[in-house]
Amino acid sequence: MLRAMANSALDDVSYHQLRQLVGLVDHDLAGDPFPVRAMDAVVFVVGNATQTAHFYQSAFGMDLVAYSGPETGNAEYKSFVLRSGSARFVINGGVRPDSPLLDHHRRHGDGVADLALEVADVDQCVEHARASGATVLTEPHEVSDEHGTVRLAAIATYGETRHTLVDRSRYSGPYLPGYEARDRSVPKPEGAPKRLFQAVDHCVGNVELGRMDEWVSFYHRVMGFVNMAEFVGDDIATDYSALMSKVVANGNHRVKFPLNEPAVGKKRSQIDEFLEFYDGPGCQHIALATNDIIATVEAMRAAGVEFLNTPDSYYDDPELRARIGEVRVPIETLKRHRILVDRDEDGYLLQIFTKPVGDRPTVFYELIERHGSLGFGKGNFKALFEAIEREQERRGNL
Ligand SMILES: [Fe+2]
Repeated sequence: MLRAMANSALDDVSYHQLRQLVGLVDHDLAGDPFPVRAMDAVVFVVGNATQTAHFYQSAFGMDLVAYSGPETGNAEYKSFVLRSGSARFVINGGVRPDSPLLDHHRRHGDGVADLALEVADVDQCVEHARASGATVLTEPHEVSDEHGTVRLAAIATYGETRHTLVDRSRYSGPYLPGYEARDRSVPKPEGAPKRLFQAVDHCVGNVELGRMDEWVSFYHRVMGFVNMAEFVGDDIATDYSALMSKVVANGNHRVKFPLNEPAVGKKRSQIDEFLEFYDGPGCQHIALATNDIIATVEAMRAAGVEFLNTPDSYYDDPELRARIGEVRVPIETLKRHRILVDRDEDGYLLQIFTKPVGDRPTVFYELIERHGSLGFGKGNFKALFEAIEREQERRGNL
């Protein structure tokens, strides 16, 4: 039962692999008011979907699997569906000048419009969400084509972000009705790994000052999520900026949503900068789970992806070895790749963060390789934020 629920229609990564990759825990689904199977897709609205779909193939090693656009009868926008293991990204861009996607892009720039969730029973989830005070944006309905039927609905979360709820148990097509299967349109470099990441580990939301607890309680109340960890105040403060962060997750931790709000620092925090340039709350970063972060970082760097530069002092600190103990790669290798490492009572994790991938200083990525740790790199926050602030300073936003 646990296994059946943990595996979604999307998986071509085994339950055992996922358990290590994203840190699954056992969960009794009986009585779960809002049983979530997995992330269905991270859905982006961007200024140029055609070129962004190229980027995620060439730089993130993802496979193009489906497409909808003017050539398939969708005159309003282009939509590219990309996969890497159990992770699915959908990249949408307006074609017709009156497309609402262009209004979204004018306001927010390239960003995440929808964190879509695969659920077993759309109607049960919507009923529970409505009774708990959530805003239902789209009522449950069905769409069909020759591959079967999908049941869909959508509820609102922070800012203009939504959670589409998808039951695809009666559907065998490449994504949703209206999409055609496509093959990779960008050749893979010779000798490239099969894929650079296997799953989405977590998606972080930045919300306004003073509203984090409200959204934490939204996920508890509406979606039955549980608290995973809590970092507040000094835990994530540097001399210049600070933030508060709490993490909510579905029962088995397959879906994890850290929520950040700015805290008062001497200067403007990275969360304030995001809220200004995204023009409101939104998804700040997506963490991608890999089982070989060294190979992933090497391949992404070779493809031109830029990562935050952790200072030498992080690796030369004599306390680092004491803090992290034995990890699978030598510190010299971590230093060469600027990968961060953190340990807690359950194990350790390796992680690294990209610079923002669009024009605005908003959305970025994390790569994470978990070895037992269910955390988020709390011990790295200070070292990391100091590195982020050096970048903010270069942009004149500190
Ligand atoms: Fe993260």
